Amino acid sequence: MSLIIHEFDSPDLLTQNLAKQIMTILQQAIKAKGKASLVVSGGSTPKPLFTLLSQTDFAWEKVTVTLADERWVNATHKDSNEKLVRDNLLQGKASAATFVSLTTEDQDATTAEPEISARIDAIDSQFDVLILGMGEDGHTASLFPCSEQISAGLDMSRKLSAIATQPTTAPHQRMSMSLAKIVAAKKVFLHLTGAKKKAVLQDALANYTDLEKPIKAVCEHTTVDLMWAP
Ligand code: 6PG
Repeated sequence: MSLIIHEFDSPDLLTQNLAKQIMTILQQAIKAKGKASLVVSGGSTPKPLFTLLSQTDFAWEKVTVTLADERWVNATHKDSNEKLVRDNLLQGKASAATFVSLTTEDQDATTAEPEISARIDAIDSQFDVLILGMGEDGHTASLFPCSEQISAGLDMSRKLSAIATQPTTAPHQRMSMSLAKIVAAKKVFLHLTGAKKKAVLQDALANYTDLEKPIKAVCEHTTVDLMWAP
């Protein structure tokens, strides 16, 4: 298990540092292979980061952006992570990036697992940068401990990179990247703010199983850079 802790005095300082690190890694990837991949999460925490990235001068046309997870709603729905990304990240300078959506027209996300898996695998076998959030129940991406699908989502031998999940403690069916796809990324950041989330993470790592607190599974399978501010 490997967690590298980076603490900042304020969310603003965290955002600036994280944006800088992301751009450096994407730049190195473009130098090495001519393109780069960036996976972001939804929720409220990353919004200021998205705004800052969107204002950053960069070869965004060489970057493909996708999500670690999506709520199974229309892309215009207020809870859509795609909408959050389109409205805040894929703006200004970053509007030149390519975005890969995790949604289809299927009623049930389960039906779309093969198609979404193929889409995300086509971006990269190992994403250059992947940024996770975490909920107070220890979920990350949409790998919810309360969902029936949690064992399948955490199964490292799972072939499909995407999994449909149905949380019982949060709204909407979801489409999530599997644990195996997440931990294959070359760089994984965990972006958290607030004392509560820090305590949840420490408690998860010390006192729970992977199935009980899926964020622990991520930390057990790869090096995670925790970016935290009060
Ligand atoms: C989602 C997520 C989810 C999120 C956490 C934290 O779509 O809900 O990607 O994993 O990162 O729930 O969300 P907050 O930043 O809103 O606390």
